[in-house]
Amino acid sequence: MKIAVAGTGYVGLVTGVCLASKGNQVWCVDVDETKVELMKQGISPIYEPGLSELMKEHMDALTFTTDYRSAYKDADVIFIGVGTPEKKDGSANLAYVYTVAGQIAESIEKDCIVVVKSTVPIGTNDKIENFLRAKVRRDVNVFVASNPEFLAQGTAVRDTLHASRIVIGVENPEAGEVLKKVYENFDAPKMVVNRRSAEMIKYASNDFLALKISYINEIANLCETVGANIEDVSAGMGMDPRIGNRFLNAGIGYGGSCFPKDTKALSWLAAFNDKEIKTIKAAIEVNDSQKFKLIKKAKKYYDSFEGLTVAVLGLTFKPGTDDLREAPSLVNIPILLEDGAKVKAWDPVGVANYKKYYPTEIEYCKTIDKALEDADICFIFTEWPDVKNMDVALFEKKMKCPIVLDGRNCYPLDAFKDVHIIYDSIGRPVVDYLYLDR
Ligand code: UDX
Repeated sequence: MKIAVAGTGYVGLVTGVCLASKGNQVWCVDVDETKVELMKQGISPIYEPGLSELMKEHMDALTFTTDYRSAYKDADVIFIGVGTPEKKDGSANLAYVYTVAGQIAESIEKDCIVVVKSTVPIGTNDKIENFLRAKVRRDVNVFVASNPEFLAQGTAVRDTLHASRIVIGVENPEAGEVLKKVYENFDAPKMVVNRRSAEMIKYASNDFLALKISYINEIANLCETVGANIEDVSAGMGMDPRIGNRFLNAGIGYGGSCFPKDTKALSWLAAFNDKEIKTIKAAIEVNDSQKFKLIKKAKKYYDSFEGLTVAVLGLTFKPGTDDLREAPSLVNIPILLEDGAKVKAWDPVGVANYKKYYPTEIEYCKTIDKALEDADICFIFTEWPDVKNMDVALFEKKMKCPIVLDGRNCYPLDAFKDVHIIYDSIGRPVVDYLYLDR
């Protein structure tokens, strides 16, 4: 089977490489020549653990190109894995999806199945099929299938090869059979449903996870007031299999390329249909304010950041990725800078991307030690393993005033037994061995 994949971002490239690893010939198409040149040399343009290795192992089965015509013309299956970013009104921008659909329509010379992996509003696959049918050669049959993606950044290869489920949304049973064959060797349960249900499964799943995070964050905020500990509360809740113990980590809110955009897109879609999903609206509101939680906490210790040295550990929206999309650091650091703080930041892989926003305003440090040196306060935005595993005595040793605000609950509270520090995290009692006069 010849497979083509449009787009070489997280979804497209990971899909292409995983399909190649299962014995398919895969053509990966992108408009960006620089990216294509890198991939031809076996270099992944995105940071994703395990991806480069798998790519190098299967280079014989992979073709990287900007020439979409030769990729699409005789393909049996074409995956669309391009972005659907958020528009100003919260709806999904489908411009890239339709650009690719237009290129497919002008290129294909034989019957094929177009598989939409991009997250698109319910009903979009029907529209894409109509669009394609109106434009392709008369002797060519084209069917559209919805096959949403559930991979998380940082674990994308594992999530694809051993997916929790493979959802295949089709209106035509033969297209379903072809896709089942494509995924034959993937270790995952497969379900075939209609296209609109497949599209809805994607949004409903992502939004449910976002809701779960906002819920636990609100419970954490209340824990702080009433003197409970969210770690114990989450653990106790998670032992109930009906709740499940994952995605119950309280923190400074969800970021990334999916939850913020998909919650807004579903809200928009509901409103467009004269409906309202109140729970999702609430999840968005909670998340928007949770992102500023550490700044609010900091005000307990300092009236202003003017003249303070602020250490920042972690810039990316989560560990295991260099992605900054919707990262809490991007809304907090500007406040610190505007208020006159000197910001010293450490992140193992996110610095190059952060420099695109702040090339000179921040001092980027190569080590955690350097970032902490002489700091008046430290903000932890990302729970990188290096942060979680460091000796917490460093805070006391290096900082001028060891006040640590942890947005990701990186340490158990008893880690600070012998450390003179203020450690203020999310939903847990404050550890205060400094007893500052305030
Ligand atoms: C998510 C979904 O997990 C994935 O299935 C979907 O296809 C795309 O969106 P991703 O955005 O890569 O994946 O990361 P994920 O690990 O889900 O985390 C998203 C955000 O939620 C991060 O900012 C993370 O810090 C936050 N989070 C996650 C919490 O605050 N608490 C948790 O318990 C879990």
